[in-house]
Amino acid sequence: VESRRLGGTEVAITPIGLGCMQFSGVGGGRMGRRMYPSVTQEVADEVVGAALDGGIGWFDTAEMYGRGASERALAHALAARGVAPGRVAVATKWLPLGRTARGIGGTIDRRVGALAPYPIDLYQIHVPFGSLARHRAQLAAMARLVEAGTVRAVGVSNFSARQMAAAHRTLAAHGIPLASNQVHISLLHRDIERDGVLDAARELGVTLIAYSPLDSGLLTGRYHAAGAAAPTWRRLGFGVTARRVRRAAPVIDALTGIAHRYGATPAQVALAWLVTFYGDTVVAIPGASKPRQATEAAAAGAIRLDRAELDRLDELSRG
Ligand SMILES: NC(=O)c1ccc[n+]([C@@H]2O[C@H](COP(=O)([O-])OP(=O)(O)OC[C@H]3O[C@@H](n4cnc5c(N)ncnc54)[C@H](OP(=O)(O)O)[C@@H]3O)[C@@H](O)[C@H]2O)c1
Repeated sequence: VESRRLGGTEVAITPIGLGCMQFSGVGGGRMGRRMYPSVTQEVADEVVGAALDGGIGWFDTAEMYGRGASERALAHALAARGVAPGRVAVATKWLPLGRTARGIGGTIDRRVGALAPYPIDLYQIHVPFGSLARHRAQLAAMARLVEAGTVRAVGVSNFSARQMAAAHRTLAAHGIPLASNQVHISLLHRDIERDGVLDAARELGVTLIAYSPLDSGLLTGRYHAAGAAAPTWRRLGFGVTARRVRRAAPVIDALTGIAHRYGATPAQVALAWLVTFYGDTVVAIPGASKPRQATEAAAAGAIRLDRAELDRLDELSRG
């Protein structure tokens, strides 16, 4: 399995990691259960097991996902598989809403505890808004965690190009690279090409971590079958509306055609496109609520699309 460096850090990652927001409801989080209703710890164990079997080498979670429920579920699943600490990379996120920068150092023990015994390889600021502190102060607090050896690398999420460049400068003053910016990227969501985030990432050597790379399942083609509308929570929470499904039909048709050639699925081709089209800069973290979905995601890393296929999907999805 191909290995890439996370930004300018020593953290090694596979082009495809596993998003663990789907485990938000494990252990009783009511809000989390509403977002992703079906995942129990048993299922989370199987999903993570399938990801590991397929060669996925890293996992993305967050404090926000069920107030630590996802982090605990991930740690439980890794331990159930006998994964030694340090064998896989783990990324989590601090939620800045209503908090000062002191909250970063003040709550890190809870994050470490939720993920124990697995160390935090990447600690990200989940959103650029909502904190009572400036970005500079939050990043300085993050840098102190690296200096103390509590986390290995620092990233941001949902940051604009300008915010990203400023974050890079702030961390550079501490001798620490900005490892990553986690943003929404998919064949149907290509804002990074227009809003300067892709150019900034390339210039600064920052990895872009693509969240919702399947557009919450839309790119799998599952909502294109007759009578297969997305459930209400996915329409309202994740924008998988009938209109978007209709508009995506030509892309789904092309993905299905290309998938046939590889004995693959449209979802796998969509992921392969994402981690190839932008070179090494973009990696993806599809979510999975069933082991089969994790198996599919992992195997997508081995698909090598040719130039004509990459370009065809590029053209079709531009509109
Ligand atoms: N930083 C941020 O602000 C942010 C925001 C959103 C997400 N994220 C991260 O990104 C990860 C992925 O994003 P996401 O979950 O929003 O979207 P996604 O990866 O685009 O979609 C995941 C969903 O698609 C469906 N799916 C996946 N593989 C499939 C397959 N092979 N066949 C059919 N359906 C399949 C599943 O739906 P069902 O469960 O219904 O089967 C799954 O829950 C999250 O887990 C989280 O770690 C970060």
